[in-house]
Amino acid sequence: MATWIAAKVAASPATKPRIVELACGAGYLASFLKGHLPGIHYCGFDLSPHLLDHARRRLDAARGSQTDDAQMEFHCADLVRDDWTEKLLGMGWIGIVDAVVSIQALHDLGGLEQQAQVLKQAHELLRTGGVLAYGDLLQDAENPHPSRYNVDQHLQMLSESGYSLRDSLSADRDEVQPQTDQSAAARFGAFGCFAGYK
Ligand SMILES: C[S@@+](CC[C@H](N)C(=O)[O-])C[C@H]1O[C@@H](n2cnc3c(N)ncnc32)[C@H](O)[C@@H]1O
Repeated sequence: MATWIAAKVAASPATKPRIVELACGAGYLASFLKGHLPGIHYCGFDLSPHLLDHARRRLDAARGSQTDDAQMEFHCADLVRDDWTEKLLGMGWIGIVDAVVSIQALHDLGGLEQQAQVLKQAHELLRTGGVLAYGDLLQDAENPHPSRYNVDQHLQMLSESGYSLRDSLSADRDEVQPQTDQSAAARFGAFGCFAGYK
């Protein structure tokens, strides 16, 4: 999923893409993106101060061995209840973000309504042509979860949140990759990767 997300960000014409991550946790995707996309300007949000501490320490530890000029920052916010976009407003990032990303996390925000609310806020951040790229767990009969959804529901949520699925829904289905990696399937069930554009 991280490779797929990084490829979507890399398709941006920006040489130093501005990236916002939703529910970044301990910063695994942040450090992957930093390693693969030199010079990124990254801002990650998560509910957990404890995980954010891990994220900051992970990035600090990597800094000594890397010389790129990436700018990485992490902020604590409840994406559903707090006005987390205020922080980005203060940074002057409204409407100029190249990519909003998330990995294995949207299902934790709550139901479709909560996820859609956050995706609409993310849409406001993006520049025209910017991408929302995320991977998340899909609905799985063997491992039911109240806020996991199937591919059609994800695509509908993207459309209703204002994202263009490029070309057409059927063409975009080629981009949707419900994957069944056996080890991941055993632990997490199926997951899918989704992209929507402003
Ligand atoms: C399954 S973890 C995934 C973390 C990270 N994306 C990763 O792959 O390592 C889900 C994350 O969502 C965060 N989270 C849950 N609800 C949240 C909310 N309302 N606002 C912000 N973050 C939230 C949790 O703190 C946790 O870090």
